[in-house]
Amino acid sequence: SVTPLTSLAETAGQCVAESRALLEAGDEAARVPALLEDAGEALGIIGKRGQGLVRFVSNYRKLARVPKPVPTVLELRQVFHRLQELLAEALHKAAVDLVCECRPSNLQLVADEEQLDRALINLLRNALDAVQGQPQPQVHLRASLEEGAVISITVQDNGCGIAAEHLDSIFVPFFTTKRNGSGIGMSLVKQIVRANGGRIGVDSTPGVGTTVRLAFRQY
Ligand SMILES: Nc1ncnc2c1ncn2[C@@H]1O[C@H](COP(=O)(O)OP(=O)(O)OP(=O)(O)O)[C@@H](O)[C@H]1O
Ligand SMILES: [Mg+2]
Repeated sequence: SVTPLTSLAETAGQCVAESRALLEAGDEAARVPALLEDAGEALGIIGKRGQGLVRFVSNYRKLARVPKPVPTVLELRQVFHRLQELLAEALHKAAVDLVCECRPSNLQLVADEEQLDRALINLLRNALDAVQGQPQPQVHLRASLEEGAVISITVQDNGCGIAAEHLDSIFVPFFTTKRNGSGIGMSLVKQIVRANGGRIGVDSTPGVGTTVRLAFRQY
């Protein structure tokens, strides 16, 4: 909202006008400090709103600009290994077993390494959120070479699942069902996957779990 900005401008304008009038009248009466107090309060509000806006804009920019991918040949087993190390603490805290599988074990994918990492981290974090409170939380990260030279990467969890009425919304920017969610994860993942020439699909059953599947053409 720009309301606080407007009112600050008004208060500041008033402040200037009145102090000029006071000076011209030679009146020393200090009405200025009271106005300054108002202005200070308004500034505080602007500061807070501004911070919220900055967060919003920075999230929005993350979404709006997936840079042009710089593809390299990635050894998927190594990518998975790195992610497992990166998320080790979160996995430990959530007491989640992350099982990684790569078939064939030397499977390679041509993609932007940093972007693929970001996409998979987002999917794995969603999976970790989803299995919270499940009796035997499990997350599988798999890569396989399928018919038609398609490389499939799946993130599967046995978590809460996605309600049927939400399935269409999960890729919509800022859609979230989480208290502290920003709702940019899935739309970012979709953009990254597309930019790297892949497709994304989601299969979910409430109470059973969710599988997100990325499919890339093997070059
Ligand atoms: N594996 C999953 N299991 C259950 N629900 C999921 C899963 N992945 C996504 N969702 C649903 O899709 C919504 C959007 O996910 P998305 O990653 O875009 O945002 P978020 O996780 O809420 O916030 P953040 O921006 O921090 O990632 C989630 O709020 C959740 O309702
Ligand atoms: Mg998320």
